[in-house]
Amino acid sequence: MSLQSELSEAFGKAFAALGHAPALGAVVESTKGDAPYQCNGAMAAAGQAKKRGEKVNPRDIASAVADAMQDHALVGSIEIAGPGFMNVTPSGSALAKTANALAANPARGLSADKALSVMIDYGGANVAKPMHVGHLRSAVIGEAVKRIFRARGHEVLGDIHMGDWGLQMGHLVSELQSEQPDLPYFDPDFTGEYPSEPPVTMADLSRLYPAASNAAKSDPERMERSRVATAELQQGRRGYRALLDHFIDVSIAALKQGYGALGVEFDLWKGEMCVDPLIPDMIDGLTKQGLTREDDGALIVDVDPDYDMEARKGVPPVMLRARTGAVLYHTTDLATLVDRKTENNPDLILYVVDQRQAMHFDQLFRVAVKAGWYAPEQMEFVGFGTMNGTDGKPFKTRDGGVLRLEDLIEMMQVAAEKRLAESGIGEDFDESERAEVARMIGLAALKFADLQNARLTNYVFDPERFTAFEGKTGPYLLYAAVRIKSILRKADATGVSSGEIVPEHEAEAALVMALDGYARALAASEDKRAPHILCDHAYGLAQAFSRFYAACPILADETPDAHKRSRLGLAEATLGQLEHVLRIIGLEIPDRM
Ligand code: ARG
Repeated sequence: MSLQSELSEAFGKAFAALGHAPALGAVVESTKGDAPYQCNGAMAAAGQAKKRGEKVNPRDIASAVADAMQDHALVGSIEIAGPGFMNVTPSGSALAKTANALAANPARGLSADKALSVMIDYGGANVAKPMHVGHLRSAVIGEAVKRIFRARGHEVLGDIHMGDWGLQMGHLVSELQSEQPDLPYFDPDFTGEYPSEPPVTMADLSRLYPAASNAAKSDPERMERSRVATAELQQGRRGYRALLDHFIDVSIAALKQGYGALGVEFDLWKGEMCVDPLIPDMIDGLTKQGLTREDDGALIVDVDPDYDMEARKGVPPVMLRARTGAVLYHTTDLATLVDRKTENNPDLILYVVDQRQAMHFDQLFRVAVKAGWYAPEQMEFVGFGTMNGTDGKPFKTRDGGVLRLEDLIEMMQVAAEKRLAESGIGEDFDESERAEVARMIGLAALKFADLQNARLTNYVFDPERFTAFEGKTGPYLLYAAVRIKSILRKADATGVSSGEIVPEHEAEAALVMALDGYARALAASEDKRAPHILCDHAYGLAQAFSRFYAACPILADETPDAHKRSRLGLAEATLGQLEHVLRIIGLEIPDRM
């Protein structure tokens, strides 16, 4: 338990002993004043007493609670202010106990009360298309959310849920046929074994798809060929299925590389194409339940009794099957829900997807609830805003194109290299170490700049600002961690080792309280599915360390030995927690910089 929650519990008991609700004992961080914590329950207690017809002065309640708590082991001092605020300073021994416990175990107190099984649907890149800047946010936020849940002790599976099953595949098949008609995949009479080597590379796929899709836009005959190929593929034509398997393998290899470069790892590499076989039964089932109806040849499910098409109000129906017989985005997402239910039966599914798809998921969840597959609270849309250019629109390259993810990462590394040169950091590194450090800084800059905003906020891409070593940036946090590493190395070299932590200085106490806030920050970040709360915590911790280090020299000659050991212990505890929290938000820390 954190010191702050122990204090809350103790104050709660004091309130209860006086006949008030224990929840009134909540001890929170002070917004102003000299004491680090405050307890504001006395005012509410007086309010509740008044409702019961008693008349009490909140200041009197505060005095009574303060009297009862004055000698408590956790309490250093309590001061009553204004109408009945209690300003609380924890005792030195309570701080010392907390600090030493955190030094022994940086993950102390992080677990949730109850472990859930959770699936996180994020990433969502499409097969056979190169990754681009639009894939950044889902990957980075989804990965952080996944690690937050894991750090809380939940059982979590991340699923990439690859997209674009359907016409896209027909485009690829038919375009490849025009290019290489002699491949055995196109010969309907071929009965042998198809080659195990794919006939295409990722570069081929990213060329074939736009070629076909552009041609089909102006040429109905070309479109028809793609349609036919799609239909035959979905009906299981052998050569086409073999091609599809190649396309998927080639795409997965490329996606693994792309997401790997971002430090994003999935447990499940499933996608829309995996659930295709489940669709007919699913549609059958929904129809038997009486949930579907025909509408102009299409098959739909109504999800909102108040939907008004004319007024464009409410939630529109979900289309399961188009008039052409094609299945749609909702259909594959519904089949995926069925698949997850039978394969994993999760307590909770989170979809980390662009906010612009909010309606899609609202509709989706309504069908799943209507069908009785899931309870409403088991499915949650975790939306996010866009990364914009300086024009306030989703980020584009200078010529208006879509920036490839690898180019974005490269851009960040270049910006980081420039920063390193400017600040004279790493001048003595050899080239490969400097490049590696720049890579880590560039990525940290990009991810932290993304994660530190509340999810739904749009932000402007600004590599200059993101890579600054001062202020609330990824590089600042890396620098803070690296600095502690270097202090610890120096201590090691001079034969000083850490010992019992005895916080004495006010800056030491503040650092311990910052450390103490971690469990609460992590719990809140889970609760709100909000990595930015952890970013705030990490930044506050780094700042608290910085103040501590300025006020309390660790290895200086004049520092007494016992203080050296205590401060070193505090430095180790800080590094342990920084490493823990930065791993969750996906930042890699160099050994030196
Ligand atoms: N592939 C989709 C897209 O590119 C994102 C997938 C999101 N996840 C889902 N289950 N629909 O927009």
